[in-house]
Amino acid sequence: DVSQRAPSDHLGPDYRPTEEKPTATVSTKVSHENVTILPQTPQLIALLTMIRDKHTNRADFIFYSNRINRLLVEEALNHLPVLPHTVTTPVGRTYAGVKFEGKICGVSIMRAGEAMEQALRECCRSVRIGKILIQRDEETSKPKLFYDKLPEDIKERWVLLLDPMLATGGSALMAVDVLRSKGVPESRICFLNLIASPEGAASFAQKFPNVRIVTAFVDEGLNEKNYIVPGLGDFGDRFYTL
Ligand code: URA
Repeated sequence: DVSQRAPSDHLGPDYRPTEEKPTATVSTKVSHENVTILPQTPQLIALLTMIRDKHTNRADFIFYSNRINRLLVEEALNHLPVLPHTVTTPVGRTYAGVKFEGKICGVSIMRAGEAMEQALRECCRSVRIGKILIQRDEETSKPKLFYDKLPEDIKERWVLLLDPMLATGGSALMAVDVLRSKGVPESRICFLNLIASPEGAASFAQKFPNVRIVTAFVDEGLNEKNYIVPGLGDFGDRFYTL
């Protein structure tokens, strides 16, 4: 239901009583187990408010969307497996900790997905990043694969798939098909997304129940041009050219 209203929550620090906190629109909930929505904290909502504002200039759009992308990457890394790892501290005691298991790589869906690469590099130094270019075929108006360049050993890696806007889901679904054709199991793919439409999230989560999705926000729906609403407009234009 595209006209469905998103829920509203009181937001603010715990030391203020609820009635003194402003309300804000928070993410719609989804029932798919493979979808993780970031906690709707005052900080996340403030960052999203900045990038949704049509008056926000490109420099601010880049800065604030990058901060949200960092939150997405940090959350996605929590979904990768770890092994026990004990270290000795400078005071001669041991600490029972963990370390990441296995190799990772990023794959960005061009052009908007490339905007999430910086956050990934900030968290994972010298991470390998592959690219997939999917565009709408003018004749069929269906998504079409134009180009892909991926790490050779991608089927041995955990893949963080990057695309900020999940509208109808056409490109993301095709990107997962490309990864699967290279031998990457669904269970080793994590899709990082800034804003999803409920229908895009549902179709992706249903088609690939073993792919994890980490998103900052599930929005109200799509308009007649398949833009996410309320959304933020064209992400690639606002990040690269506007
Ligand atoms: N891609 C965008 O950049 N924005 C949308 O709203 C949908 C797809």
